[in-house]
Amino acid sequence: MQRKKRNAVAVQAVILTAGEGKSLFPLTRECPKALLKVSGISILERLIRQLDRFGVRHAAVVVGYQKEQVTTALINLQEKIGMTLAIVENDRFAETNTLYSAALAEGCCRNGSLLLIDGDLVCEDAVFDHLLRANAEAVLAVDTGRVMGEEEVKVRVDHHNVAVAIGKNLASGSAEFLGLARFSPAVTREFFLEAKRLLKSGNHSHFYEAAFSMVMSHRRLTCLDVNGLKWVEIDFMQDYEDALRLFGLPSERQAFRVSRRSRRHYLFCPGPVLVSDRVKKALTRPEIGHREVEFSELFNRVRLKLARVFGVRNLHRYTCLVLNGSGSAANEAVLGSLGTKKKLLIISNGEFGERLIRLAEFLELDSQVVRLRWGQPFDLDEIERSVRRSGTDMLCFVHHETSTGMLNPLPKLAAIAKRYSKDTLVDAVSSLGAVPVDIEDNEITFCTGSANKAIASVPGLSFVCGKRAAFNALKAVKARSLYLDLYNHFVYSDRKYQTPNTPAVNLFFALEAALDGILDGGLQTTFDRYSALATQLRGGMKNLGFRFFLSEEHMSPVLTTVELPVGFEGDEFHERLRRLGYITYPGKGILKDRAFQVANIGQISHSDVRRFIDALARVVK
Ligand SMILES: Cc1ncc(COP(=O)(O)O)c(C=O)c1O
Repeated sequence: MQRKKRNAVAVQAVILTAGEGKSLFPLTRECPKALLKVSGISILERLIRQLDRFGVRHAAVVVGYQKEQVTTALINLQEKIGMTLAIVENDRFAETNTLYSAALAEGCCRNGSLLLIDGDLVCEDAVFDHLLRANAEAVLAVDTGRVMGEEEVKVRVDHHNVAVAIGKNLASGSAEFLGLARFSPAVTREFFLEAKRLLKSGNHSHFYEAAFSMVMSHRRLTCLDVNGLKWVEIDFMQDYEDALRLFGLPSERQAFRVSRRSRRHYLFCPGPVLVSDRVKKALTRPEIGHREVEFSELFNRVRLKLARVFGVRNLHRYTCLVLNGSGSAANEAVLGSLGTKKKLLIISNGEFGERLIRLAEFLELDSQVVRLRWGQPFDLDEIERSVRRSGTDMLCFVHHETSTGMLNPLPKLAAIAKRYSKDTLVDAVSSLGAVPVDIEDNEITFCTGSANKAIASVPGLSFVCGKRAAFNALKAVKARSLYLDLYNHFVYSDRKYQTPNTPAVNLFFALEAALDGILDGGLQTTFDRYSALATQLRGGMKNLGFRFFLSEEHMSPVLTTVELPVGFEGDEFHERLRRLGYITYPGKGILKDRAFQVANIGQISHSDVRRFIDALARVVK
C-alpha cells in the first residue's frame, strides 16, 4: 500500500472519492459516500473488486472528505486483493472539484492508460467488460436511455457515436455520462495537460468534463452506450435507494427504509433543538423513585444550576422552580397565580407578546397593552410614560421575540420598572442560555424559561425564576389553576425539595446534563458560541443574496428571520430544505409566505452551518 501525494506509480484506474457527498447529507455526515454499503461491501470496495476481476493491476484512489475513514478501509482491502492501491490526498476537497482531484493523481498514471471512475458509481460487471473491450483510443460510458436532471453530466453524441459536447450545463444532451471513461496513454497525457491548463487560471472549481471538452476539440471521444445495463451514480438519496434495489441485499434495503424513515434532521429551528449525546444518554439513566432522596437531590442540583443561568447570585433573594410543561406552562403559571387585583402593562412587538396578551385576556386579568408592529423596537420613553400613567403593578414583556428574532432591551425595560418600583414578568423562553438575563442585576420579579431552546435539552420542562418575596406574596391570592399554582410549586420546591405532582424524572436527568454542558465551559462561552454561529450563518446567507427582516443591531444571537427569495412560497421552500435534511421554521402570522426563520441554537457546529448554507444555495440556485 502506498500513500502518495503526486508520486509516480503506474496505475490504470483513478477513482475519485474526495467529495463531501452533500446531496446525500445527512447520510454522509458520518459515513463518506464511497463507504456506503451496497451488497454487503462499500461502494468503493465493490468498484475495486470489479477492477481486480477485470485484471486492472493498479488503482489510485483520491480521498478528501473523511479521508481517514476511507484510507483505513483501503488499507484493510489492500490485504485482501491482488492489485496495488495508491492513496492520493486532496486536502482541499471542500473548495475544489473533480478536475483538481483527477489532476492530483497524474503522477500515478504516467505512461499508462487511464480508467477514470467516479467513486459513486455502482454498476454491473458488463459495464466494465464493454468499456475495457471497446476498440477506441478514448471511450466515455454513456446511457442514451436516461432522463437527465440538472445534476447529471450530459453528452451530445453525433451519429458516429462521437461526443461533441459534454457538461452539466448542456441545455440538452443525447446521453447521460456514467462518470466512467477510458483513455489511451496518449489521450491520458492530453487530458492531464488540459487539466493543468485549466487549473493554472486559479479556478479550481472545474469538473473533469471541462478537460474532456478541450481534448474533444482534437480527439474523438467515442461514446459507449450502456443502455439496458444496470448502473447507478449515487448523487441523491433516491439514487442510493435505486442502487440498493438493483444491487443490494434484502437486509440492506430493509435497513435503508427504516433508517430513511428515522433519518436525522438538522434542526435549524428555534426549539426543540438538536441535543448532545450527553443529554441523550442522560435520558436513559436508571430509574429513581420520584419521592425519594435521589430525586430531591437531582431536583435541587438542577434548580441551583438553572439559577446560575438566570444570573442569580443570592439564593436567599431568588429561587428557581421547574415545572412539567413547555414554556407556555411557565407563563401561564405566573400570570394565573397573580390573582385578579394586579394591573398589568403588557408590551408586545410580535407573536409571543401577543400570546402574553391573550393569556391575560383568557385569565381575565386587568391589563393594559402597548401593541407595536412586529419587529418594531419599543420606544422606551413611551413605555416609561405608560408605566407612570397606567397605575401598573407589573410590566410584562418578551425578552427575545422569537417570531421576529428581535432582542428586546431587557436591562432598559427592567430599569424603567425598577424606577417606578413596579414588578416585572420577563418571558425569556427563547433567550435563556443564549444571552445574559441577569435576573438579579435587573431586579426582575419573575422570569420564565424552557428546556428545549438555547439550554439545549429535550422538550417538556419549563422554569420560573423569581424573587422569593414575590413567590411568598402569592400565598395571599387564589391561583386560577390548581396544577400550575405557583405558590404551591414554590412551597413544594423550597420546603420539600419535591414537585406537587409527578415530575418528568428522566427530563430532569437530561436537563442537568444540558446545564452541565453550558456551565462547564462557562456561561459566557456558550453565549459566544451562539453569537459566532449567528455571525457565520448571517454572513453565509448574505453572500447568497438573502435579505433579513430586521436590521442586524436588533437581532438576537439565537435566530435570523430571512426574507423568502422571490418566486418561492413558504411551504415549498421549507419542504425543499427539509428534503435536504434541514428543518427551518416558516414565518408566522404576518411573515407567512414572506419569510422563514433559521435558528442556530442547540448542538449545531460551524460545519453544520457551512453545510446548511450549501443546502440553501442548492435550493435557490
Ligand atoms: C418567547 C417565547 N415565549 C413562549 C413560547 C411558548 O413556548 P411553548 O410553545 O414551548 O409552550 C415560545 C415558543 O417558541 C417563545 O419563543
